Amino acid sequence: MEIDARSLSQDATYKLMIGSVVPRPIAWLTTISPSGLVNAAPFSAYTMVSTRPAIVIVNCARRAGVSKDTARNAEATGGFVLNVVSEDLASLVHKTATVYPPDVSETDALGIELIPSRRVCPPRIAVAPVNLECKLLQILEFGEEHDQNLVGEVVYFHIRDSIFANGKIDQTRLRPLARLGGPTYARLGEFITMPVETPAQ
Ligand SMILES: Cc1cc2nc3c(=O)[nH]c(=O)nc-3n(C[C@H](O)[C@H](O)[C@H](O)COP(=O)(O)O)c2cc1C
Repeated sequence: MEIDARSLSQDATYKLMIGSVVPRPIAWLTTISPSGLVNAAPFSAYTMVSTRPAIVIVNCARRAGVSKDTARNAEATGGFVLNVVSEDLASLVHKTATVYPPDVSETDALGIELIPSRRVCPPRIAVAPVNLECKLLQILEFGEEHDQNLVGEVVYFHIRDSIFANGKIDQTRLRPLARLGGPTYARLGEFITMPVETPAQ
């Protein structure tokens, strides 16, 4: 199959992109509105773009041209928490993608326990094994729909003691959840560790 990307509708393009860019990690973002309402939502189009300082970028597409609560809150309060999702959290995370009215907090509605953050306004999610407190640096807009992409500097790490060893996060204990297309997720299978490459003389 060969397809000229520019010949496709937005919906058809979306289907090919979420089936091609796989597996995706999930950023479960908590934000807070200026009136103090906590919002939680998952975003799988995300990655890290720098480590000094640590910078992440998270896609937050508009809904019918309107900013999602997450982008609005992050812009208004200057930050978000990126909660890392382990496979045991799949069902709960999925529920937070439901569209709630802006005056309803997903974390209240679903009974998600929160812990105050140290450096940013929104709280972090207690059941998440890793929480990255992020200061919003900028919002980059891409494409005809002006998708918003939150660029955040990680200013504080919270890592559960049981998954942390020798300065690293033990992936066999973290068990991160992956997202595939649509409502399909995946657990990691067998780990493959390659020998360390040594440069040719
Ligand atoms: C696992 C998962 C990943 C998602 N990834 C994205 C994403 O990368 N970008 C996006 O705009 N929406 C994504 N969504 C949809 C948002 O979570 C959804 O629009 C949510 O209602 C936004 O919440 P808010 O309006 O409270 O900010 C994803 C949904 C799920 C279930």
